[in-house]
Order: sequence, then C-alpha cells, then structure tokens
Amino acid sequence: MTESSSIDLEAVERAARILSEGGLVAIPTETVYGLAADADNEAAVLATYAAKGRPADHPLIVHVADADAIDFWAEDVPEIARMLADKYWPGPLTLVLKKKPRCGLWVTGGQDTVALRCPSHPVAHALLERFAGPTRKGLTAPSANTFGRISPSQASHVMEDLGIKPEGKLDMILDGGSCEFGIESTMVNLSSGTPEILRHGVITRSMLEDTLGIPVPDAGRNAPRASGRLKSHYAPKTKLELVDGNLHVRVAAWAAETKGVCAVMASKTQLDTLLAAVPVERFALVIEAPENVLNYGATLYDHLHALDAAGAVRIFVERPQQTPEWAAINDRLGRAAA
Ligand code: TXA
Ligand code: MG
Repeated sequence: MTESSSIDLEAVERAARILSEGGLVAIPTETVYGLAADADNEAAVLATYAAKGRPADHPLIVHVADADAIDFWAEDVPEIARMLADKYWPGPLTLVLKKKPRCGLWVTGGQDTVALRCPSHPVAHALLERFAGPTRKGLTAPSANTFGRISPSQASHVMEDLGIKPEGKLDMILDGGSCEFGIESTMVNLSSGTPEILRHGVITRSMLEDTLGIPVPDAGRNAPRASGRLKSHYAPKTKLELVDGNLHVRVAAWAAETKGVCAVMASKTQLDTLLAAVPVERFALVIEAPENVLNYGATLYDHLHALDAAGAVRIFVERPQQTPEWAAINDRLGRAAA
C-alpha cells in the first residue's frame, strides 16, 4: 500500500462479510484493482461477468491467501509451480494449473485449468486471510474495469467506471491507494508440462528462467484462452497511436491535416523537440514518460486514463525501447493502440 501505512480493519471486515454473502467488492492489489467475488459462489462469480460486461467463457484468476491453497484448487501440480510460488508469492505472478474437480467451471470458463495468484498488497492479503479463515477458499478477481477498457490502478478509476450500487454495480470499493506495479500479473501456464508465458508482467521472463533453470517461452497457439491476449484489450476510448522515432515529424504532419488537439506521452528529449515544432495550443495534455521501467509500469494506466480524459482527438505515445525488460509495457501499449 503506497498511500497509507495502516490497514482499515473495519473496512476489511465489512468487505469479507459482503463477499461471504455473495456480494461484489473491488479490492486493491499490487498490480491493479480487482473485482472480487467468492470463487465458490456461482451466482456471485457470474455477477462479476455481468458487471464487467465480459463474456462468461473467459476464465478468472482465483486469489488465495497463501501457497497452501494450491492443492485445494489444483491437481497434478508440477514441482516447478511450487518453485515459482516459493520464490514470487505473495506477488504479481499467476500460475495456471490443472483444476481440481471442486473448482467450479464458472471460475474457469469451462476449461480444465485454474489460474491461481497470491497477491502481496497488504489490504488484499488481510482480506483473503479474513475471508478464508481456516479454509483455503479464494476470491475470483478480474481487473475491476468494464471489459476491454483500461485497467484501474486507483480506487477512483473503479468508482468512475463501475461505481457503487444502486447507480453503479458494486457493493463496496475497498480503497488501498495507488497500485504499486500498475500492470497486471505475469501469467505462466504450467498445465501442459512445460512452462510458458501467457501474459507478460513485472516478473520478467529472465526472472522466471533464473528461478527454474529452463527456458520459459511465450505460449503458442494452443495455449488456454486468455482475454488479456485479445488483440484490442486495455483500450482507451480515444484512438491511440504508437510512434517510433521522431515524434515531432509525425505530430506536425497530423496537426497540419487535422483540426483539434492531441494528447502526448513521450520522453523528455522527444517532448523538447516536439514542443518547439508544434504550437502549444494543439496539445490538450503532455506527459513526460518515466525513464525507469518500473515507474513507467506503475504509472502507465494512470497516464492512459489521463490521456483518454484530456478531450483530445488523438493520443500519441512514443514507443518505448524494445528490450525484454519492457515486454509487459510494450504488450499493453500494443493492445491499447490496436
Ligand atoms: O494482476 C492481475 O492478475 C489482476 C489482479 C486483479 O489480480 N487480475 C487480472 O484479471 O488481470 P483479468 O481477469 O483481468 O485477467 C486475467 C487473465 C484473463 O486474460 C483470463 O482470460 C486469463 O487471465 N485466465 C484466467 N484463468 C485462466 C486459465 N485457467 N487459463 C488461461 N488463462 C486464464
Ligand atoms: Mg483485465
């Protein structure tokens, strides 16, 4: 939790009660806010699909209090899954495993695998412990945004998008400040014998390979379905264009042929040249992109929300470097631009 150091235990208690009674609660995690429901409660889980407007055949991640819950939800668990959980849980890593029969098909979208993640955010962690008690129960939690839109990295994003009943769709939003990492967890498929990356995140390929001592390639075409892998996901409402190299050339050309204002996110050097080349009144918003990859990730969705809300007719983003450490960011930007 970045903004306050103490946990509001009363709020956590209330959230746990609402979830046990089948309600929907938006919860903070270290990646993005999640839309939580009791994974064992079919009606509650189906209500999260409805709230998001997400197709019901898309599987959800089950969030658990600790690694002891793995065998409650999954079977035929390979040793490499335990190595990864030992190393990176609690944290932004999701493991896809063969599901146990007790795990409902409403969680897995009818598939025979289940995605498990133990979040490190202190509020999420306190909630999961309170909710599960002595059991190994878990909470399904897709990102708490309308399907296909930008993921929420602050409670206010959830409030604006899904909102609280009766006008909105949720029973409660548990505020845990800004999310530390800001982009969704790394997802690794371990259900087919060899590990493969389903979704890039702050736990990078090289971190996974260092832990396992074997290659961890991207998932192939036969990989389990994941909506995060749809081409146009994480999309702002305003058209977003990724620009390689000379931003001022592209934006000047756009400004010459188009009326209206644009919103821009780029490095300081690119911005300096751009602001010298294009009149200032053509910009609704200009954001200096963080140079550090973790800072870039932590602020990415905040920045996309701001760029989208700026009233621009076009968003221009300088394409970041194409190196392995930037894989998750390039992945999300590519989808935002699709
Ligand atoms: O960081 C995160 O993972 C966040 C926070 C809230 O924990 N959650 C999140 O959930 O990003 P969601 O539902 O927005 O994205 C999860 C992705 C989806 O693309 C889903 O299709 C995929 O994981 N997924 C879930 N279960 C799966 C499974 N059994 N096999 C393959 N993909 C799965
Ligand atoms: Mg999502």
